[in-house]
Amino acid sequence: MDDSNQAALSRSTVLVTGAAGYIGSHAVTELLRQGCRVVAVDNYSNSSSEVYARIERLAGASFVRAEVDVRDDAALDKLLSQHRVDACIHFAALKSVSESMAQPLRYLDNNVGGLLTLLRVLRKHGVQGFVFSSSATVYGDPVRVPVPEVASLNAVSVYGATKLMGEKILQQLTAITPEFERPWRVVVLRYFNPVGAHPSGQIGEAPRGVPNNLMPCVAQVAAGLRPKLNIFGDTYPTPDGTCVRDYIHIQDLVAGHVAALRHLLGDGASLTLNLGTGLGTSVRQLVETFMQVNGVAVPYEVVAPRAGDVAQCFADPSLAHQVLGWRAHHDLADMCRDAWRWQCSRPRSHA
Ligand code: NAD
Ligand code: UD1
Repeated sequence: MDDSNQAALSRSTVLVTGAAGYIGSHAVTELLRQGCRVVAVDNYSNSSSEVYARIERLAGASFVRAEVDVRDDAALDKLLSQHRVDACIHFAALKSVSESMAQPLRYLDNNVGGLLTLLRVLRKHGVQGFVFSSSATVYGDPVRVPVPEVASLNAVSVYGATKLMGEKILQQLTAITPEFERPWRVVVLRYFNPVGAHPSGQIGEAPRGVPNNLMPCVAQVAAGLRPKLNIFGDTYPTPDGTCVRDYIHIQDLVAGHVAALRHLLGDGASLTLNLGTGLGTSVRQLVETFMQVNGVAVPYEVVAPRAGDVAQCFADPSLAHQVLGWRAHHDLADMCRDAWRWQCSRPRSHA
């Protein structure tokens, strides 16, 4: 690691949008631990401000927080007039694939409209270092795995389309620098399947209602909150017939963001990078590992495939290693252990 980049990081102030959410809360905790100052923004549409007290206890540091919608340019403008920031990590978005198909305009307005408003206000305040949360969903059904960043892009859902549009907007901004303007420097991070929780068990994923994603479903079934797990299909062309994904520990994912910020604060160039482990894991393997490492039962039943699921998707993460020196360190057992610790210790209001 370049010492001057680390020094720049620990002197910096970072605007984090979607800070109270699953990934945002872990990122804020780590940024504080790295010595950064944080200005946290969320509208709590899928989270609660209660998490902030736990973050401060964990990190032993406090931070600025504001209830602001990223589509509200006046509120953002006011906040950035009060707090000078050096860079922004933009997590705030709606993320349910099924909901995006039922409410396309809401998703386009929130995710694309929110990004445009945020960029406009950041530019006004001279903040042009930006980290964007994208998703492996932009690869659609990949032609080959592991998937490199140069693979063809094809978002199938409205949610996926909002991520692809976000990437394209940012590409336009980084490709063109009008005379007398500062260039944008943007790192687009395509996450594979973030799972697990902070090892303290104090923060984690707190989905509202019935979760859509596999790991929270598994943890809730293990805790007896749901009678059984539905495995969506076992006749895919994969080794055990269930779908294969690239599960990545939330702490590794967050470390990727810290590495991206360090790169930007050290005047690094714009990049688009996969954040994954490079390993494919089947649904059955994940469930079995969860039961084994935690010593709990997860009753399951194989049901019909879920519409829109692809058989296999896992990353080629070599570019992130090459340019940021980042790679994932946690294995599937760590992910299952930490997800279970969080499930067992999470506050009742988030059960
Ligand atoms: P999350 O829902 O837990 O967090 C998102 C946060 O953004 C929430 O706290 C929500 O209240 C807030 N938010 C939404 N719209 C907002 C708005 N207009 N203004 C202010 N705040 C707003 O989701 P997450 O899992 O932490 O995801 C963070 C980002 O990562 C999202 O952009 C998501 O699309 C992307 N992503 C997530 C995954 C995943 O599996 N979790 C995978 C790929 C990409
Ligand atoms: C899904 C989204 C993706 C999003 C990601 C993270 C779809 C088609 N894709 O990815 O856009 O970026 O979540 O939010 O929704 N499974 C079960 N039983 C369950 C839940 C899941 O068998 O109860 C299986 C699924 O069929 C899939 C695997 O587990 O094969 C992982 O599912 P999930 O956690 O929802 O992630 P993705 O489908 O990869």
